[in-house]
Amino acid sequence: MSGRVLVTGAAGFIGSHLVDRLLAEGREVVGLDCFTDYYDPARKRRNLAAALARPGFRLVAADLVTADLAPLLDGCDAVFHQAAQAGVRASWGEEFGVYLHCNLAATQRLLEALKGRAGVRLVYASSSSVYGRVTTLPMREDSLPRPYSPYGVTKLAAEQLVDLYRMNHGIDAVALRYFTVYGPRQRPDMAFSRFIAAGLAGRPLPVLGDGGQTRDFTYVDDIVEANLRAAAYGGDAFVFNAGGGSRVTLHEVLATLEGVFGHALAREHAAVPAGDVQDTLADATRIEAELGFRPRTPLAEGLARQLAWTREQEEAA
Ligand SMILES: NC(=O)c1ccc[n+]([C@@H]2O[C@H](COP(=O)([O-])OP(=O)(O)OC[C@H]3O[C@@H](n4cnc5c(N)ncnc54)[C@H](O)[C@@H]3O)[C@@H](O)[C@H]2O)c1
Repeated sequence: MSGRVLVTGAAGFIGSHLVDRLLAEGREVVGLDCFTDYYDPARKRRNLAAALARPGFRLVAADLVTADLAPLLDGCDAVFHQAAQAGVRASWGEEFGVYLHCNLAATQRLLEALKGRAGVRLVYASSSSVYGRVTTLPMREDSLPRPYSPYGVTKLAAEQLVDLYRMNHGIDAVALRYFTVYGPRQRPDMAFSRFIAAGLAGRPLPVLGDGGQTRDFTYVDDIVEANLRAAAYGGDAFVFNAGGGSRVTLHEVLATLEGVFGHALAREHAAVPAGDVQDTLADATRIEAELGFRPRTPLAEGLARQLAWTREQEEAA
């Protein structure tokens, strides 16, 4: 990888971190984002504040489904496809159309634009949600995916679209199945963001369910590292789990967070929404062997960084 790169969903939580890292490595970056209203677009603009001050970065505010993609892909040797409508809970009912548009139609459009272009590596941001409500852990790439939410269906369908364009049209692609990502700029609908916001405001922390559910939480810098390794990968495998190596219960997260805050935090329990699974855990065998990837950030350290960042944001507001 040495030429220009395209990052879709560049203004989002993960996309903006990827942009910052690529710029720090001296890459020329085109960032595409249509600033959906899934959460406050002003927050997304702030995610890109540092990038926008750098000469190597160009922002294209456009929807992947309608944008003229050919000029954006000219001269690129990698595309990091992060754009999507994220979130499990909002993917029911009327909103499903948005998921079809942002996750499926957008991916299909990008794949069509990549057809016939040699030397471009596509890295697709897939999700642990493709596995669904499994009874056997860890989740392995070769097990039968069975999503448990409409969101998961769209992420899996898009992953399969990438794979079939790869097989039919020779598109050079790798998919990373991210496991619950956290850190500074995390989406406001995600649990850690909600916990930290409540903790700072002195409100009880909104815990869905009894807190016994587990997640393989992954710090955002580790996900960025996995993306760079996926872009440089020379082997034949297509899909990789990208997990954080710290599967913990929500109870343990809350205890860690109390340590980071330095005091006890009250909790308020609500029902688990439809589509939420009980457990996730990545089998890391393939990504370790093929990409040499190992997550580096322990949960307490990552949570402390997310809390510090949130405090800074609140002080600056
Ligand atoms: N955050 C996680 O824990 C997690 C876990 C698994 C997978 N993922 C995947 O990682 C990717 C990034 O997630 P995130 O948490 O940073 O979400 P995010 O919502 O912060 O970022 C996604 C960005 O994509 C943009 N976007 C959506 N549709 C678009 C379109 N049609 N054209 C152009 N831009 C569009 C949005 O405006 C947004 O800025 C997504 O593909 C998501 O499915 C995230």
